[in-house]
Amino acid sequence: MGTFYLTTPIYYVNARPHLGHACTTIMADAMCRYHRLAGDRVYFLTGTDEHGERIAQVAAKAGKTPQAYADEIAAVFEETWRRLGITNDDFIRTTEPRHQKVVQEVLQRLFDAGEIYFGEYGGWYCYGCERFYTEKEIVDGKCPDHQTALTFIKEKNYFFKMSKHQDWLIKHLEEHPDFIQPERYRNEVLGFLREPLQDLSISRPKSRVVWGIPLPFDDQYVTYVWFDALLNYYSAVTEPPQEKTRGLWAHVEHLIGKDILKPHGVYWPTMLKAAGIPLYRHLHVHGYWSLGGSKMSKSIGNVVEAFQLTDKYGHDAFRYFLLREMSFGLDASFSEEALVERLNADLANDLGNLVSRATTLIAAAGPIGRVTAPLEAADREIVEAAAAARVAVEQAMRDFAFQKALAGLWAFIGTVNRYVDGSAPWALAKDPARRPRLERVLCTLADSLGFLGILLDPFLPDAARKIREGLGRGEVPVLADAVVGRLGAVPRVSRVSGLFPRVDTKAPRSGTPQGEGRGQAEGSGSEGSGGKIPIADFQKVELRVAEVLAAERLPKSKKLLNLTIQVGDETRTLVAGVAEHYDPASLVGRKVVIVANLQPATLMGVESNGMVLAASHEGTVSLLTLDKDVPSGSRVK
Ligand code: MSP
Repeated sequence: MGTFYLTTPIYYVNARPHLGHACTTIMADAMCRYHRLAGDRVYFLTGTDEHGERIAQVAAKAGKTPQAYADEIAAVFEETWRRLGITNDDFIRTTEPRHQKVVQEVLQRLFDAGEIYFGEYGGWYCYGCERFYTEKEIVDGKCPDHQTALTFIKEKNYFFKMSKHQDWLIKHLEEHPDFIQPERYRNEVLGFLREPLQDLSISRPKSRVVWGIPLPFDDQYVTYVWFDALLNYYSAVTEPPQEKTRGLWAHVEHLIGKDILKPHGVYWPTMLKAAGIPLYRHLHVHGYWSLGGSKMSKSIGNVVEAFQLTDKYGHDAFRYFLLREMSFGLDASFSEEALVERLNADLANDLGNLVSRATTLIAAAGPIGRVTAPLEAADREIVEAAAAARVAVEQAMRDFAFQKALAGLWAFIGTVNRYVDGSAPWALAKDPARRPRLERVLCTLADSLGFLGILLDPFLPDAARKIREGLGRGEVPVLADAVVGRLGAVPRVSRVSGLFPRVDTKAPRSGTPQGEGRGQAEGSGSEGSGGKIPIADFQKVELRVAEVLAAERLPKSKKLLNLTIQVGDETRTLVAGVAEHYDPASLVGRKVVIVANLQPATLMGVESNGMVLAASHEGTVSLLTLDKDVPSGSRVK
């Protein structure tokens, strides 16, 4: 068992949580869940950065004290992470006494060791970044980040002798090539270090900034925000000393966005070195999301809007998109269309359909005590694909390469989907002589779902839990159990359907999740026309050909059949009221006509997605079928 202590940046309270914050926090959460799965002792820290002039200004604008304002926004951050199911162990706020105490202690220690001196400095200052820019960094006389004019400030301040540690830092980076990852960011820091390092001004006169931690050795000054903020990672696990945080510091790993590389790659290691505190183990740096091509920042409202999509499409879908779409370390572009595409293709189609078809087939067969049929080549392929997927996940997660971990898992999901098609359990079920083979196929499917219920947990926690619950596995998932090929029985399984409803991109309100907003316009065209409807009304009904893959009676219902149907490349569950007229087995393999765009409805506890068309006359019920064969999914008009 290892120990894993991971931090996110502590977010400024001058803005509400947005997509960028969510991205880092979700990545950290996925990583911590993964380490818990692997059996490690995990500690996950996030929090808020609450001092500095910028925050004082925003608070003043809102007519609040900085503390009241910080309290409010910090609570919004905490609440947001709760809502998203983030599993942080601690939430640190820089206005907490435990943190202030450590900041003052470390400052005093550095001052006593001669690492801090009093001097005068004149330089170009950005109020947005709360830092001075060197001539080299300034672009067209402006702050490269905010594109705003800089102010020349000359004042007396306390300085940290950062320059003195330059050679040591270069050597450290050379000797520890993985200290900053991915490599491009290590190179970027080495790039900064090619220029002589300036000493760092670590105070602000109270005459200019009051909202900060006072210097312990001069009460006319407060601590510069970065000197205060970086120490949160250390104060959270050292003050007060507690059993649950004991020994964690030695294992600290930081996760940040590329915007704050310099403070974390240069200021922070030199501060730690000077204070005699062991260095962090690794700095993991991810890229930036852009929206419609523009770099996102707090000043762009649409970043917040992008974040609202988590409510619209579900936390798992949003989380999946962020983790799958961004190559760790590189920038990525966010759009609602891309999110919906991933949701429909990867989640609804590949994963959702697999889970729905497999659980439907297994549930129909019931539990099987012992499966005796030997493994065939197709089953062994699944065993191997699972082992390969697990290795892919393990390797990728070492590098924070979430996109690779998910690509590995989806390669497995693809293999299992092909296995279902190839082994056609619905056809095996029709032939009693093939029962042993059917049992083996269902066993392999149950095994595969069990594997996914574990390995998907860090990435899609809700869906993974539903899969495990469907298999009757209530226990905490364990990575070591993610092995396919050992299961010799088929457990009692309950059907898991509707894991990720498809989003209908052709609906008038584009991007509306299925089910929402349907039927609102009903009746509008029929008034005053003698009960006749315009063709446009009929065209709202999507009739399609569907193939029945499996059929069974709904327990406790005389009338209802539970059908698993194939509509094009989609598998669905549909409840049909024809049990008194058709034997379930006689329907398997037949093509019927369904209303494909009905809102889902739950009948006797089963979610039905569509309606089968049948004619009825004086007690005779006749299903609509086709007089020539056409593929399932074909439109009926
Ligand atoms: N308070 C400082 C950090 C102090 S850490 C000791 C700060 N806060 S912040 O609120 O501006 O958050 C910056 C972080 O938010 C980035 O490093 C990144 O983790 C995340 N992101 C903000 N916008 C982002 C994107 N557009 N894309 C990806 N992540 C981004 O800086």
